[in-house]
Amino acid sequence: MGQRMNHAGHEHVELFEDPKSRLRAVVALHSTRLGPAAGGCRLWAYASAEGAVADALRLSRGMSYKNAMAGLPLGGGKAVIMRPEGPFDRAALFRAFGDAVESLQGRYLTAEDVGTSIPDMEVVRSRTRFVAGLSAKPGLAGGDPSPWTALGVFNCMKLAVERRLGRGLDGVSVAIQGVGHVGLILARLLHKEGAKLVVADADWDRARGVAAELDATLLDPSAILAAEVDVVAPCALGGVLDERSIAAMQAKIVCGAANNQLATDADAEALLHRDILYAPDYVVNAGGIINVTCEFLGEGPDKVESRMARMPLRLACIFDRAESKKVSPALVADDMARELIMNTKRVPHDTRVAS
Ligand code: NAI
Repeated sequence: MGQRMNHAGHEHVELFEDPKSRLRAVVALHSTRLGPAAGGCRLWAYASAEGAVADALRLSRGMSYKNAMAGLPLGGGKAVIMRPEGPFDRAALFRAFGDAVESLQGRYLTAEDVGTSIPDMEVVRSRTRFVAGLSAKPGLAGGDPSPWTALGVFNCMKLAVERRLGRGLDGVSVAIQGVGHVGLILARLLHKEGAKLVVADADWDRARGVAAELDATLLDPSAILAAEVDVVAPCALGGVLDERSIAAMQAKIVCGAANNQLATDADAEALLHRDILYAPDYVVNAGGIINVTCEFLGEGPDKVESRMARMPLRLACIFDRAESKKVSPALVADDMARELIMNTKRVPHDTRVAS
């Protein structure tokens, strides 16, 4: 059911179609140089197949960079499923997607992402073993990756605050945009550490609940990025750091979980010019993929922790290089990721997966 497509810069791109289940999915493997290409499966209502392909290409390259920077034995890949119009049989769709993943024979490892969930991945598991993001088994990594993502952002924020403000998190003010799975746990960790919180969420009831629980100030979502705080943590959508939001920003640091926070590459420069320290998104939000990787490899939570301990060290290295070259940390991170991918000897595929 697969049809190979050629895209320069990507190792393998394939369109999978299964009329019976109405599956239309693109799987893009950006690189398998460091190991099997790993990255989640997104279910989204795309306006066109071209849009789905473009998303898969962009996201899979991002996963290569994220996995390399997290020191994982993985390449980068991504799957996007074009959500069928009207009602559809969800289980049949994910069974067909599982067959597509299986046909790649371990070159691609999938997991949950926007629009997909643990139950969907359990269905995928019925057709292939090259899937993670399942319910955790006792003593092993697995389950919802969000708490690990939040912990990684928290640890990296601690480092950024130390670097930029020369202090700990106690008394530091942090504005969190989006208090969903990751944002809420991040807020709780920061509250415990004595940080003063400002929160906003498109879901006002959710935001109100968090504000009440953590004694946080509630703000309109349209005002959160310009809040008068030390740190802004985007934990909702991508593309939020643009010309307008950066010009209005009062914070000295940006460190959050959202993927692809910069609207354009030029926005990294704009942050630098405004003397706002930017902690590159894919470096600080890698806790989730670390947890997923440990699940793939059948490792325990202790291994998740030891792999995660390297994240702030990597970030410190990025800040050092950026400071000495007077360039944006985003630029340094991209260069470092490319170096890691190109300079590492190609490894044979390691498709050991916890059974
Ligand atoms: P989520 O969907 O649980 O939470 C997002 C929250 O943002 C929701 O409460 C939503 O109402 C709110 N929101 C949406 N638009 C908003 C706006 N304009 N202003 C304020 N709030 C808004 O998602 P989750 O899992 O917490 O992820 C957050 C971000 O982190 C996403 O960009 C995701 O791609 C990224 N990420 C998540 C990981 C994870 O482990 N869950 C791993 C790596 C990245």
